[in-house]
Amino acid sequence: MAAKHVRNNDSLYNTLFFLEVTMSKHLIIGASSAIAQSMIMEILKKEHSIIAISRSRIPDALASSTNLQWIQCDYSTAGIQSICQQLSKTLPELNSLYICNGILHNHDLYPEKQIKQFKAENFHSVMHVNAALPMIWLQSITPYLSRRQHLKVVLFSARIGSIGDNELGGWHSYRASKAALNMLARNYAIEMNRSHKQVSITLFHPGTTNTNLSKPFQKNVTPNKLFEPNFVAQQLLSIMEKQISKDISYIDWQGKPIPW
Ligand SMILES: NC(=O)c1ccc[n+]([C@@H]2O[C@H](COP(=O)([O-])OP(=O)(O)OC[C@H]3O[C@@H](n4cnc5c(N)ncnc54)[C@H](OP(=O)(O)O)[C@@H]3O)[C@@H](O)[C@H]2O)c1
Repeated sequence: MAAKHVRNNDSLYNTLFFLEVTMSKHLIIGASSAIAQSMIMEILKKEHSIIAISRSRIPDALASSTNLQWIQCDYSTAGIQSICQQLSKTLPELNSLYICNGILHNHDLYPEKQIKQFKAENFHSVMHVNAALPMIWLQSITPYLSRRQHLKVVLFSARIGSIGDNELGGWHSYRASKAALNMLARNYAIEMNRSHKQVSITLFHPGTTNTNLSKPFQKNVTPNKLFEPNFVAQQLLSIMEKQISKDISYIDWQGKPIPW
């Protein structure tokens, strides 16, 4: 990658400067998400560098990518802290951080239609993955950030986490977990605005996207409202490229604000 861009092989300084201004660094957590996978492909096309973190192993399609470092994590607090320590030199140079993790259903749980289906243990699992886990990552990453760092943090939220927009009800645990994520992110933004003024937070709603997460709920979605992951990835990356630093925003795939 480096050799391709070097115009003056004798000048190490020029080379390093060139790489610094052209090669941005991205950290993507929850990298097995279908939207995350599409983002990784798009970012690699631009020859930027990515660190991807997931419970899963690197997919075969990405195994030979030179600008990609894939790290497996069990998402325990100790595991997360250990990865952050391992990345201590890279974290202060990051340009963007994406936390994609989110569950709506799995073998053990399904979104509730009515309060009679609510189960505290399922609520705790959804809350943990969708709201607590992103915060444990931010808590563990923040001590390594530089105070002057320009960093764009994107947390995958959902329109359904909007309290103002909730007209339909249902999906109690998922809704509550995304609303909690929004509140926690807002708190984090306030704290960061005191110490790390160039860090911006974006809570992102991808729209209904054709992934495992939405599979059981797609039959009532009109085809033009069901997006493919690569469309959403391109939308998000283009929004983030144009974004001028703002403490916090809660936006959809068009970049339009969502009521809190
Ligand atoms: N698809 C939609 O229609 C839609 C709509 C609104 C919002 N969203 C949000 O968009 C984000 C990405 O979702 P997606 O549609 O791309 O879904 P997906 O392909 O099913 O990806 C699932 C994501 O959740 C993580 N995950 C799953 N189970 C987990 C667990 N037990 N512990 C920790 N992490 C777990 C995965 O991380 P690993 O890489 O570690 O496996 C992966 O990042 C989610 O936050 C979702 O809530 C999606």
